[in-house]
Parts: sequence; C-alpha cells; structure tokens
Amino acid sequence: MSFNGKVVLITGAASGIGAETARHLAKLDAKLSLVDLNETLLNEVVTEISQTGTSKPLAIVADVTNDANRIINETISHFGQLDVLVNNAGIASDETFNDFDVERFDRIMMTNVRSLIVLTNLAVPHLERTNGNIVNLSSIAAICACEQFFSYNISKACVNQFTKCTSLALASKGIRCNAIVPGIIRTPIYAARGVNESNADEFFEQMKSTYLVDRIGWPSDVAAGIAFLATPSFVNGTLLPVDGGYLLKN
Ligand code: NAI
Repeated sequence: MSFNGKVVLITGAASGIGAETARHLAKLDAKLSLVDLNETLLNEVVTEISQTGTSKPLAIVADVTNDANRIINETISHFGQLDVLVNNAGIASDETFNDFDVERFDRIMMTNVRSLIVLTNLAVPHLERTNGNIVNLSSIAAICACEQFFSYNISKACVNQFTKCTSLALASKGIRCNAIVPGIIRTPIYAARGVNESNADEFFEQMKSTYLVDRIGWPSDVAAGIAFLATPSFVNGTLLPVDGGYLLKN
C-alpha cells in the first residue's frame, strides 16, 4: 500500500484517530494537509511527522464549521491537488434525551454533519481531477441505540446516510465515498463523558467486557481501516465496522 504522490486532507488531525491516521499515511508516503482547531497539538503532530516522514505536512489551524473554503483553498494552493478527504473531526457530549439542549445539538450537528457536507462539496472538483475519494468517520453509535450521547448518535446516523447518498451522487464523477464505523477507541474524545487521565484506565477496562475480542480499539486500528478505504479499489458506499465484532451482538 502506498500513497506516494497522493495528497490527503485530514480534519481533526491534532488528536486521537486523526493524528494516528496522519502518522500512518505519512509512513505510506502521503502528502498531508492537516486541519484542527487546536494549534498547539496540531503543531506537535506536524513536527513529529516532519522529523520521521518523507514530507512536511501542511498545518491548517481552522474550524471545520466556519473555514471550509480556506481549508480547501490552502490545501490546493500548497499542493496543487487533492486525492483523499478524510472527514474525521467530530465532537461528542454526554447527554440523554431528557438533557436535550438545542444549542448543544446544533453545535454537534454543525461539526459532525454539516461541516462534512460543506467540505465535501468544495472538495468535489478537485477529487474529480484525481479520481479521488472521501472517507467519513461514523460510529457504532449510528447503528446501536443507547441512552447516552443522544445528539451524537443522531449525528452519526446522518453520517451513514450522507456517505451512501454521496457515493451515489459522485460515482459518475469517478469519486468514491465510504465510512469507517469504529467501536470504542481509546482517545481523548471521552473527556466529554468525564474520562480523564486519572480514571481512563478503569473506564476503558470496563468497556472491554462488551467486546468480543476482549479489548477496545486503538487509533491505529482505525487508521489502518481508513488507509484501506482511501486506497484505490472497487469499494464504494460502504460502512466498514472497525469494532472487534461489537455489532455482531448488539
Ligand atoms: P478526539 O477528540 O481525540 O479528536 C478530535 C479532533 O477534532 C480534536 O483534535 C479536535 O480539536 C478536532 N475538532 C473538533 N471540532 C473541530 C472543529 N470544529 N474544527 C476543527 N477541528 C475540530 O476524537 P477521536 O476519538 O479521535 O474522534 C475522531 C472521529 O472518530 C470523530 O468523528 C469521532 O466521532 C469518531 N469516532 C470516535 C470513536 C472513539 O471511540 N474514539 C468511536 C467512533 C467514532
């Protein structure tokens, strides 16, 4: 597998799955355009990859809900092309139906759904030129109903339908669109559920018991799935679980 000569734009690349995907694709020789709100963490990832990878990633400090035009324009003016868009940036919040808050819901939908649609639309002319593709980050929360993460679950169900409708719409342009459906992956996103350095080991140990493979996932598990979907293939419009088999029994 090689991404030599390919330009990959990853949103939410300063942490967790996005950062690990950047490291993974850098090892496969991709040229990276990395986007995040968090400038400090983004620069750390860029510095790390610059020291070990074959090329220096472009860092774009930006908000996917506001800066879509700038994200695409800076990527194209720096690299001259776009081959893969990884719509990874996402936020969660710990809430149930009874805690519903419309402003929080809007923020989650803006980040987890609307920004994907806007960025993808702007990326299409560039992806058409390269026979490129899109990888979206869904979640098992899109499929399994649970009380927690009420707005988040709804947003990820939207990502699934967005993926299918987009792959249908863009197939004639030679652009594929797929999604990864991760199970629980150990990343800082669980801070929204009160998980911090002091209780993370206990939290993830408890989660482990619900998994067939007796472990939860790591960002590297998802990064490998993203690399697979982003590699030219006949796979299109698919929702690929990377969940240790969780969906088999839930
Ligand atoms: P994370 O919290 O470690 O990283 C998310 C990154 O997105 C952060 O660096 C954050 O600054 C950035 N971000 C958030 N809002 C942004 C915005 N408006 N503009 C630019 N950047 C923004 O989270 P993680 O776990 O790596 O999640 C990545 C994706 O994977 C998300 O879409 C998440 O919903 C999805 N996912 C994660 C799972 C998990 O268990 N960790 C499970 C299933 C899906």
